[in-house]
Amino acid sequence: MRTQVLPLAHRASRLTGSVIDSSTSLLAAQTHDIVRFAMGSPADEAVPLDEFRDISAATLDHHSLTYGATEGEPELLHQLLAYLAASGQPTSRDRLTITSGGMQGLDLAFKLFVDPGDLVIVESPTYTNGSATAASYGARILEAPMDDNGLIVEALPSLVEKAGRIPKAIYVIPNFQNPTGTTLSLGRRERLIELAHEWNAVIVDDDPYELLRFSGEHLPGFQELSPDDPLIFSVRTFSKILAPGIRVGWVDTDPAVRELVIKAKQAMDTCTNVPAQHLVAEFIRRGGLANHIERIRATYHERKLAMVASLTDHLGERITMTDPDGGFFLWLTLQGADASTSTSDLFETALAEGVAFIPGPALSAAGHFDDALRLCFASSSPERIEEGVQRLTRALDIARDAR
Ligand SMILES: Cc1ncc(COP(=O)(O)O)c(C=O)c1O
Repeated sequence: MRTQVLPLAHRASRLTGSVIDSSTSLLAAQTHDIVRFAMGSPADEAVPLDEFRDISAATLDHHSLTYGATEGEPELLHQLLAYLAASGQPTSRDRLTITSGGMQGLDLAFKLFVDPGDLVIVESPTYTNGSATAASYGARILEAPMDDNGLIVEALPSLVEKAGRIPKAIYVIPNFQNPTGTTLSLGRRERLIELAHEWNAVIVDDDPYELLRFSGEHLPGFQELSPDDPLIFSVRTFSKILAPGIRVGWVDTDPAVRELVIKAKQAMDTCTNVPAQHLVAEFIRRGGLANHIERIRATYHERKLAMVASLTDHLGERITMTDPDGGFFLWLTLQGADASTSTSDLFETALAEGVAFIPGPALSAAGHFDDALRLCFASSSPERIEEGVQRLTRALDIARDAR
């Protein structure tokens, strides 16, 4: 083997990788039965496979195998605009860019707004793939606390004062947050917009889950509260409402920002996968999306209730948990004597018992929350959820007995 000191760029040392993403290959390598509460993936039965097969056969042609427009396929933009208008979130074509999933939207946002050393506020805990993307552009990450109403926006001015500089970006997941499942209250949304203007900071509004609300009332999003606001950069994806493997999402930005988004995307991947865009466009055109979302909302509601019931039955006072009104995840915090169990250590035991989750520290840039973990209720049937919770309980018992 040749040894070589590689002439790496400084930014290479800022790449942290993702425990969340790595768990996909880790789980794929396991040969025993595992209840998968780890990945935030839609259930197999929630993916419209037959329709996708049919549409792929109908739409794959030479036209879909050549380069597409960077901003997105005209048919997808057309269908998406119509769908968003019909579902009460109207926007305009000069604001939309189709992306390779939500992750590319986050990459575009932080690439355009973050210089090395800039302060970026993130929720604590957060979707660390997002905070890691900001960090990859040299952001100084400021983790801000949350409660049952999402990010504690009232705490931000004093945190910023302590940090000694104003933020360039605030990364927030307003609905059924990943990983906690909590939703940012209306008053806090309004205050966050005020603060963003005070600081001239961009709100990176990452919202893959809003369409998956199964209880409670819709809350207006940042764009509804502050229309045509150049400081709001909205990142969306079909990963959670259709399928993550298609890698199709979109960003909704001020038209002037969109011009930069398109230039930045041209320096990344030229255009989003064209057959995948046609697949989504045709699915919407055939009228499938609204029914599909209606159906999966009901499925996920049933699964959330099943998970809360199983956790209450088996773990009772040993835990507290959040109770989301939508999305994929709930957040469990160990209580009493169990609080001294490290969820990072528990992961191995749980895997051996046949259940997987994401340990709390993987969801905080600074590695906090070793007494907490994220569970995805969306991917497993109620019977499998019960089985998985029993296995998790056994793993916690083993950790308790070993103390
Ligand atoms: C909050 C949040 N943002 C972005 C993403 C990434 O979406 P995509 O898979 O479309 O890149 C996810 C996926 O888990 C997410 O939960």
